[in-house]
Amino acid sequence: MESIVLIGFMGAGKTTVSKELAAALNTRVVDMDDVLVERIGQPISEYFEEHGEASFREHETNLLKEALNEDSIIATGGGVILQPENQKELSDKLVVYLKAHANILVQRIREDKVNIRPLAIKNDDGDLKRLFFSREKLYEKLAKITVDTSGKSPQEIVAEIIQQV
Ligand code: S3P
Repeated sequence: MESIVLIGFMGAGKTTVSKELAAALNTRVVDMDDVLVERIGQPISEYFEEHGEASFREHETNLLKEALNEDSIIATGGGVILQPENQKELSDKLVVYLKAHANILVQRIREDKVNIRPLAIKNDDGDLKRLFFSREKLYEKLAKITVDTSGKSPQEIVAEIIQQV
């Protein structure tokens, strides 16, 4: 089975859906943020503070290449689509965009006390929405399949993906 790459903004449900999808398809899952935290040896928010976003993006770009070498379900970080190198890498891959409303995304980002996103610390809700709108076209452009996740359970989203791949 070809790799399936889940993209979308922070809070879109990439991690949750990737696990369910991997279980349903009996394949392995790579959660890029989890692997990166292991590699850099500290939470992503701390890494941003100490080393800057650009350095994080380098790790992320290297990991995407690596992850794509083996067939798996890949949960990307919301910013993976920013690097032209990654856009190129993803252009011929089975990319699934988990689409959600900006208000829902911001609400989920704020409610998540475990996964503190560096870009959510200094940015207020309006900034986060603007960031989402600035990336939206890129998510849409790179996607082979777009799933509108509004009001759907992870199981329903997984069923929709399986139906379309
Ligand atoms: C980021 C999203 C995060 C994480 C980092 C940067 C972004 O991943 O990679 O904080 O730029 O959108 P999630 O989308 O899994 O929250």
